Amino acid sequence: MADNVRPADMKRIETPEQAARFIEEQVALLKAQIGEGRVLLALSGGVDSSVVAALLIRAVGDQLICVHVNHGLLRKGEPEQVIRVFRDQMNANLIYVDAVDRFLDKLSGVSDPELKRKIIGKEFIDVFAEEAAKLNGIRFLAQGTIYPDILESGPVKSHHNVGGLPPELHFELVEPIRLLFKDEVRVVGKALGLPESMVERQPFPGPGLGVRCVGAITRDRLEAVRESDAILREEFANAGLQGKVWQYFTIVPDFRSTGVRDGQRSFEWPCVIRAVNTRDAMTAAIEPIPYDLLARITDRITHEVPGINRVLYDLTPKPVGTIEWE
Ligand code: XMP
Repeated sequence: MADNVRPADMKRIETPEQAARFIEEQVALLKAQIGEGRVLLALSGGVDSSVVAALLIRAVGDQLICVHVNHGLLRKGEPEQVIRVFRDQMNANLIYVDAVDRFLDKLSGVSDPELKRKIIGKEFIDVFAEEAAKLNGIRFLAQGTIYPDILESGPVKSHHNVGGLPPELHFELVEPIRLLFKDEVRVVGKALGLPESMVERQPFPGPGLGVRCVGAITRDRLEAVRESDAILREEFANAGLQGKVWQYFTIVPDFRSTGVRDGQRSFEWPCVIRAVNTRDAMTAAIEPIPYDLLARITDRITHEVPGINRVLYDLTPKPVGTIEWE
């Protein structure tokens, strides 16, 4: 498909002025494509879907209907930020779906990583399709497809957020950032007025914290992943590492070890820190993190996160390890 190929003479978007020009062109194209129609968008709050939402709000206002599915596997504060930015500040037509129990019930007892991914992916499509079925007159489906998604072939893991849609979601596609690379999407996002914390977010897998709560997900261990991740992100930001380290997060595996807390024997989970740098996620190098920062994070996680009595640092590059633990 010719319009899925980046023209050889297409300039990279690097400056606010170039972003402003792109936005102006896209808004005109979107208006022409959509007319009076209604557009549906699954808005995760990630960079790509957020930029698509902001572009469409500019182009067609409340003809855009955003659906934010909270599957319980998002990072701390993310659903709240989506509501604050899009509903409160941008006046978007936003449907918030609390599907936490539904996802966690379906995932209960499931420990196989690929099966977990499949369940999360299928459940997401089901919830989204159910919301779509409640709406009338939808003609378009907007997606945050970016150029690497088009170029990418054969991922090692079953990435659920790229690929086939069920027949009930066969709307006409609207993909305004499909020819952009990630760094260009960020420049456009800034020019659209999205908050820095949204635009500069590190990559986050579709199955979210679900693949970092290793083994069968339980609510208490999932909370330990979410809380330890929030502490890690806060400490990395305070240390000026945000934007310098490509991806950093915590993992809580499904086993316990002995410790001592307040003079009592404890039997709790370890928390693993992973921080990597990469160009394309195909290979990744370990980021050398200052020792005092690791010590502070360890102290905070072991004292502030219920259920954690040890913190470990993963020193394995990719290969042999993958970036995620599942
Ligand atoms: P791995 O673990 O394969 O990860 O080294 C490479 C990059 O892909 C992300 N990742 C995913 N992204 N759905 C996604 O959308 C997934 O199932 C998934 N698994 C891994 C990972 O966070 C890293 O950036």
